[in-house]
Amino acid sequence: MAESSSDPRRRRWWRSTTTRVLAGVASVAATATVLVTAPAPGADAAASTLGAAAAQTGRYFGTAIAGSRLSNSAYTTIAAREFNMVTAENEMKPDATEPNQNQFNFSAGDQIYNWAVSRGMKVRGHTLAWHAQQPGWMQNMGGSALRSAMINHIQKVMAHYQGKLAHWDVVNEAFNEDGSRRQSNLQGTGNDWIEVAFRTARAADPSTKLCYNDYNIDNWNYGKTQGVYRMVQDFKARGVPIDCVGLQAHFTGGSSVPSSFQQTISSFASLGVDVALTEVDVTNSNTSQYQALTQACMNVARCVGITVWGVRDSDSWRANESPLLFDGNGNKKAAYNSVLNALNAGGPTTTPTTTPTGPTTSTTPTTPTTPGGGSCTATLSAGQSWGDRYNLNVSVSGSSTWTVTMNVPSPARISATWNINASWPSSQVLIAKPNGSGNNWGVTIMTNGNRNWPSVSCSAS
Ligand code: G3I
Repeated sequence: MAESSSDPRRRRWWRSTTTRVLAGVASVAATATVLVTAPAPGADAAASTLGAAAAQTGRYFGTAIAGSRLSNSAYTTIAAREFNMVTAENEMKPDATEPNQNQFNFSAGDQIYNWAVSRGMKVRGHTLAWHAQQPGWMQNMGGSALRSAMINHIQKVMAHYQGKLAHWDVVNEAFNEDGSRRQSNLQGTGNDWIEVAFRTARAADPSTKLCYNDYNIDNWNYGKTQGVYRMVQDFKARGVPIDCVGLQAHFTGGSSVPSSFQQTISSFASLGVDVALTEVDVTNSNTSQYQALTQACMNVARCVGITVWGVRDSDSWRANESPLLFDGNGNKKAAYNSVLNALNAGGPTTTPTTTPTGPTTSTTPTTPTTPGGGSCTATLSAGQSWGDRYNLNVSVSGSSTWTVTMNVPSPARISATWNINASWPSSQVLIAKPNGSGNNWGVTIMTNGNRNWPSVSCSAS
C-alpha cells in the first residue's frame, strides 16, 4: 500500500483504516504467526469496494447520507459496505442544528454521526456558515446581530462535535460566478465574515480541518475558481486558518468535468491546503467523466478524498439525472467500475507539479500581472448604505503601484469615488489608480435596483 501523504493527520487516518481492514484478516488467521504487513507500493491486490480502494492510496471515498434513509436496509447495506467517509446531507446545516436562536438540536446530526463511526467511518461536517438553509430567525437578521449569531453558531456546533469530525465545511458557497463575493445577509455583515468564521472555527476545535466548499470552481479558467483561489491565497498569506478546499464537483445540470480539472486541484493544493471532491455527481453517470475526475484526484497527492452526493440514483437531489454510482435498485453501474478501477490503479503520490498560473479573467478580486511586476489584492468591504445607494470601501494590499478595475453590474453605476485617480471607460467600469492618499479608497454606487456588489481585479506594476 502506498502511503502518500506527508500530513501526519492523514497518515494516522490511513493507518487506522488499514488496521481496521487488516483486523478482520488477523481474526481468521492462524494464531501462532500472523504475518500481516502492508505490501510495498504498487503491490496491492485490487480492492473490491470504493472505500478500501481509496484507502490503499491514503485517501477516503465518501457519500452523503440522509438521516431519513437510515431505516432503509438496502441503502444502509451499500453505504456501509462501500464508503469510509460520511457527510450529513442536510442534518448538520444551520436550519437543522439551531432551529431557534441559541437552542441547538443535534439529534439528526448525531444519528448520522453515530451510524457512521459505529461502522468505522469518518465524518465530514457540513456546513457552518451558508446563505442557504438558514433557520427562519437567521434569515431575517443582519449586521452585528447576525455576525454575533454566526460566531455563536460556529462555537456551539463545533463544541458539540469537538474532536470528532475529520473536516468541517466552515463556509459554503460564498462566491458569485464571476469571482466576486455573493451578496447575502452574511456578506452584508462585512467582507471579513469568512475569515472571522475560520478564526472562530479554529479556536472552537483545533483538531478538525477547516474547509471552504463551493460549486463551479472546477474549471481553472473561470472567474469563480479564481476568486476562491485568491481568497485562499490571501488567507494563507495572512495566517487566516484554512486547511482545505472542497470542490463540490456537481457535474449535473449541464456542466461537465473540465479539461483543466486536475490543474485546478493541483493549483489549490500548491497553496498549502488539502483538496477534496465533496459532492460529486455526473449527469447519467458518464463513465469517462467519473473516471477522469477520479484520476484527477488520484494524480494530486493533496487530493485527500472523494465524496459522492448520495448512494443510489433514487437518493440524489437530482434523481432525474441518474447521476450516482448505484441505480435505484442498488446495482453497481458502469461508472462504479470506472471509479473503482481508477482508485485501484493508484496514482502519483508526489507533490503536485502544476504551478498556478494566475487568473485569466478580468473579474477576479485579485490579479497578479506581468512577470516580475508583483501582485496586489483589492478587498471590498461594506460602507454606509441608503435606500438608493451604498458605499464600498476598497483596500489594496501587496503593492503601492496598482491599477484596480471595477465592473459594476448594470443598471447600477458609480456616482462618486474618493482617494483615487479615476477614469471611466464606460458608465459601468471604473479604472482606479493611487493619487498619493494611500491604498484605502472608496466608491458610492447608485443601485438603480441592483445591489449586487461590483467585481474587481487588481494589477500591480
Ligand atoms: O424534509 C423535508 C420534508 O419534511 C418536506 O416535506 C419536504 C417538502 O419540500 O422538504 C424536505 O426537506 C428538503 C430536504 O432537502 C430533505 O429532502 C428540503 O425541502 C430541500 O430544500 C432539501 O434540499 C437539499 C438542498 O441541499 C438544500 O439546499 C438537498 O437535500 C441537499 O442535497 C442539497 O445539498 C446541497 C449542499 O448542501 C451544498 N451544495 C449543493 C447541494 C445540492 O443542492
